[in-house]
Amino acid sequence: MGGTRWWQRILGGQQSWAVIDGAVVAGCILARRIGRRKVLITWLYVIPEFRRRGFAARLLRIAISELFNDGYERIRLHVEVGNPARDLYEQHGFTVSRPMPEHYGKGRDGLRMEISRP
Ligand SMILES: CC(C)(COP(=O)(O)OP(=O)(O)OC[C@H]1O[C@@H](n2cnc3c(N)ncnc32)[C@H](O)[C@@H]1OP(=O)(O)O)[C@@H](O)C(=O)NCCC(=O)NCCS
Repeated sequence: MGGTRWWQRILGGQQSWAVIDGAVVAGCILARRIGRRKVLITWLYVIPEFRRRGFAARLLRIAISELFNDGYERIRLHVEVGNPARDLYEQHGFTVSRPMPEHYGKGRDGLRMEISRP
């Protein structure tokens, strides 16, 4: 199906977890390997009408657990300064490891956040 091909193209070999409501993908999280024991969360998105119901928190919790079970030692992600997602990441144990000035464009700073396997 076209939809499946589209999804596979986006994934490009990345691991993914999704919240599905009927035919709708309400949210998803993607991760790709960046080192032998290191993985980068490249995407976390919940569509607006499904937000503030805990879906991102659930996706993140499951992804962290499975990535550590898969043998990764460290999970990294990037977040824009001011994005409320930072609170979510801190609630799950991520800490800021490096500032990323203008990572998102002029005047839009980012942060690298990471969590290590307990
Ligand atoms: C960020 C995003 C993924 C959160 O999804 P969500 O399903 O609404 O998040 P949850 O309901 O699981 O919220 C978990 C926690 O995140 C924080 N949070 C999420 N959205 C927030 C908001 N709009 N304002 C303040 N805090 C927020 C809160 O701490 C929240 O816990 P609480 O509800 O107990 O207060 C969603 O808003 C989104 O897709 N945004 C656009 C894409 C994006 O910015 N992704 C992150 C890129 S790094």
